[in-house]
Amino acid sequence: MKSGELKKLFFDFFKSKGHTIIPSASLIPENDSTVLFTTAGMHPLVPYLLGEVHPGGKRVASVQKCIRTGDIDEVGDDVHLTFFEMLGNWSFGDYWKKEAIEWSFEFLTKVLKLPKEKLAVSCFVGDSDAPRDEESSKVWEALGIPKNRIYFFGKKDNWWGPAGITGPCGPDTEMFYWTGEGEPEPLTTGDNKSGWVEIWNDVFMQYNKTADGRFEQLKQKNVDTGMGLERTLVVLNGKQSVYETELFVPIIDALKKRATSYYDERKVYIVADHIKAVCFLIADGVIPGKEERNYIPRRLIRDAMTVHYLFIEGSINVNFFLEPVNKVIEIYRNDYPELLNKKNNILSVLLKEAEDYSEILKLIRDVSDLRKLYNDFKPKKVWPTNNKPGEIDLSGKSLFDIRQSLGVSWAQMKMVAEKGGYIFSLETEEEYNESYKKHQELSRTASAGKFKGGLADNSEEVVKLHTVTHLLHQALTDILGGTVDQKGANITPERLRFDFACPRKLTDDEIANLEKIVNQKIKEELPVHFELLTVEEAKAKGAHGIFEDKYAQLGNKLKVYFIGDYSKEICGGPHVKNTREIGSFKIIKEEASSAGVRRIRAVIK
Ligand code: SER
Repeated sequence: MKSGELKKLFFDFFKSKGHTIIPSASLIPENDSTVLFTTAGMHPLVPYLLGEVHPGGKRVASVQKCIRTGDIDEVGDDVHLTFFEMLGNWSFGDYWKKEAIEWSFEFLTKVLKLPKEKLAVSCFVGDSDAPRDEESSKVWEALGIPKNRIYFFGKKDNWWGPAGITGPCGPDTEMFYWTGEGEPEPLTTGDNKSGWVEIWNDVFMQYNKTADGRFEQLKQKNVDTGMGLERTLVVLNGKQSVYETELFVPIIDALKKRATSYYDERKVYIVADHIKAVCFLIADGVIPGKEERNYIPRRLIRDAMTVHYLFIEGSINVNFFLEPVNKVIEIYRNDYPELLNKKNNILSVLLKEAEDYSEILKLIRDVSDLRKLYNDFKPKKVWPTNNKPGEIDLSGKSLFDIRQSLGVSWAQMKMVAEKGGYIFSLETEEEYNESYKKHQELSRTASAGKFKGGLADNSEEVVKLHTVTHLLHQALTDILGGTVDQKGANITPERLRFDFACPRKLTDDEIANLEKIVNQKIKEELPVHFELLTVEEAKAKGAHGIFEDKYAQLGNKLKVYFIGDYSKEICGGPHVKNTREIGSFKIIKEEASSAGVRRIRAVIK
């Protein structure tokens, strides 16, 4: 059965039970500020679960696009995905357990014709917050599910929500289908229900979890159900994995075509999953960046690139996603027209992000590069001589420094190590986590508004002004001769401020000349890149800047930014990739800042 057919059967069935079919909402939750993404069909419906009147009435059904990042480490197994679709039906204070369970059963056994012998269900066992759910189990028994296929588990298995800290939640009853070999085995608690695939979840939302952790009764008793579209297709088509369905095969084939060295099917699945999720995120306006929500597409793109490069294609190719993206759009173009409408946007955002990250990837091409970097970080032991076989024992603190300076995550470093057949020791991982925790505490206590390395933020405007500051610094050196002693810099999205030692006011000619040189360099479309150099190497290359700059330090190396051949400056970044991105440069003011120090204020247009 195809995805379109399953959706149609579901909608027809619930229409016949008095439901209004509603469209999928955005992946950015508009009605639920407790979550970063829409992780289930219920998020867009929170106000109605809390008692608002829904325009579609008390019964609605939908197929909702969802993103779940909590399962990211499981992605690539048979059932976990970052992006997936969820079929669901809801009752806002209308029908309750009996109808919900009877309709789920009818749909599964009569419409989809799944044999009830292969079904098992679980119900909530009860605790101090809510009683044992005998009501649900009685309905299942009446429908002919034998007692030994009705399981009772605790909150971990049979309680849904809230997805954030507060919100609607309640006990649930879950439906599983046996896809294992031979006779169905007993259902076990926990995530790994070997041989059983969870296909549907009926949640009985009668509680609201409060900020102080209490479960208070909601005004109305609601039903919230969720059926995983991809998982159900697996079951209906006798497949083993969601990656074998029509919603993945073309994407995976496109990736396999590029494979020169892949050895692990699961790695291809991970890349396919991530590319698909990123397409949907960008189409809904989530652009890669540093902030919480925007960090997710960045992380997905970087992980996909790392896996693809290390385990599939074997070389860095910033266009590797082109064909897979086309396949994603082909698969979903009818159901989610936003993908086709935003195609150019998706491709250009992906390309820019991939180009940026490829600079970093080049530094860590394989384990020997990693070792080189590690050695620069003064590993506790010389690698790998003192280690147990197959174990890299290096300073977790140093690995954290790589993360901070280059933005290479733990997962990515682990992949590079894995490619070389190595693992990090537990001690290293603990040390890394410790550094991470310390950093988070420090950031929390750092006073708001303090600019890191003179930068207010990493917005596009700030990054452009940052690069133009380097050009200005070099242009001043050209005009004034010798070295220009920088005394400070401060950049906001609106303007740059540059202080330098100079005993006199600049003339109008000098100012005009500065503007001319900087604009000329912008027009020359000079590429920008950085290199990691020792202090001696940086000096030999004539880099200027502060040699003790702590933002530019990476172990015992310095990050030096090059703008074409024109400027070489020690700096932590970030910068534009090419001066053509900058626009035109204008000096607004030249004034005294303090004795012997002049200040230039400038903008870009
Ligand atoms: N909210 C529940 C789930 O995600 C049912 O839709 O499983």
